[in-house]
Amino acid sequence: MLPQWIIEKKRDGEALTKKEIQWFINGYADNSIPDYQMSALAMAIFLRGMTPGEITALTEAMMHSGEIVDTSSLSAPIIDKHSTGGIGDKVSLILAPLVASCGVAVPMLSGRGLGITGGTLDKLESIPGYKTNLSITEFLEIIDKCGCSIMGQTDTLAPADKKLYALRDVTGTVPSIPLISASIMSKKLAENTHGLVLDVKWGKGAFMKNVEDARKLATTMIDIGNSMGKGMTALLTDMNQPLGKTAGNALEVIETVDALQGSGPADLMKITMALSAEMLLLAGLANDMTAATAQLQSKLDSGHAFEAFKKMVILHGGDISYIDNPSKLPSAANLVHYPANENGFIHEVNAEMIGRACIVLGAGRKNVDENIDPAVGISGIVKTGDNVSKGDPLLLIHSNNARKTEEAKSFLDKAFSISTETPEPTVLIISTIKPNEDK
Ligand code: URA
Repeated sequence: MLPQWIIEKKRDGEALTKKEIQWFINGYADNSIPDYQMSALAMAIFLRGMTPGEITALTEAMMHSGEIVDTSSLSAPIIDKHSTGGIGDKVSLILAPLVASCGVAVPMLSGRGLGITGGTLDKLESIPGYKTNLSITEFLEIIDKCGCSIMGQTDTLAPADKKLYALRDVTGTVPSIPLISASIMSKKLAENTHGLVLDVKWGKGAFMKNVEDARKLATTMIDIGNSMGKGMTALLTDMNQPLGKTAGNALEVIETVDALQGSGPADLMKITMALSAEMLLLAGLANDMTAATAQLQSKLDSGHAFEAFKKMVILHGGDISYIDNPSKLPSAANLVHYPANENGFIHEVNAEMIGRACIVLGAGRKNVDENIDPAVGISGIVKTGDNVSKGDPLLLIHSNNARKTEEAKSFLDKAFSISTETPEPTVLIISTIKPNEDK
């Protein structure tokens, strides 16, 4: 077999065999197939697509390019959640300890922010001392002690995906449903959980700009997981406006602490509770959403979820005084209100523009090697449907640099639309998708 024969076959729109896919991915992982041939195949897949069988074969090949976590030491049901990414999405920080406090083991390998979407690891690293690069053994020990652990993907887990994702990032081949599905699912399946709940976001601040593409991505990932015997559920959720009221790393940790103490914003709590409840259903710890939600609410109200979060932070080496007193977290030198320029109802808070403003402030990265500033970002973000008067703050900019504040404002100028008409209410969760059904 030669790599170019496989590239040509996909270029001409034919389906590849499982053996061909495995051979190509193994060759890429062991460096016998160079980046330029992998890029050509990725572009052919991007343009020609893949059959469900090919996508499963690609996922399996990438998953088996590294170790499969041995989760046999964990006695609880093991369920993870994955979000396709968005602005202000701090759900994982609340959900992992919340679900863990109900008796589920939550092994969560998360990513860093890239492009406009924020990254869970960057948020956690704004807590001084929190380590995100532990070994798999340490990861499992933490889960055993407090029910959950959130850290980064290791070099030994789905390494072919790590390499391919970096290549796709620079070859215009990221937004492909087969490639995204195989990339996400190869890592998640290597975690060796019993089930997975997906938060597939659609809208201006998401990879998938419309609901149809988000639905296609969700069903593709569900089919892959289901064919490998995993319990799977996906929610299609709104990412047209940021989630919650903050975007930026330390600011999102503060919002997380508020949420775990019972004062999270309504949209953030609704999505967190819905995803968490689906995890309890997959774990077999509740029979229906009402029972699952009641269990979760009692763990929030009793403070058990917050205790699990604090325990996780301590076990990861984080300085707990920053959680006991979040005002100690890194904070920016300049706070600047961004005012409404007319009276009326908020019709749009464009998540993409808020995300871009956060990047120029230094809360996100333009490329993988860039450092981020944990202190900067945006808080107090209004929501669609809010009624404002001219001059009211639409949000508060946290900045460490006056030039960057001005640059951020140029994006914020495009973020809002205000009108005297009342807007349609936002539908936060469009669908719940399970294997072979769509409710
Ligand atoms: N996240 C991933 O892990 N992979 C993709 O391809 C896109 C988002």
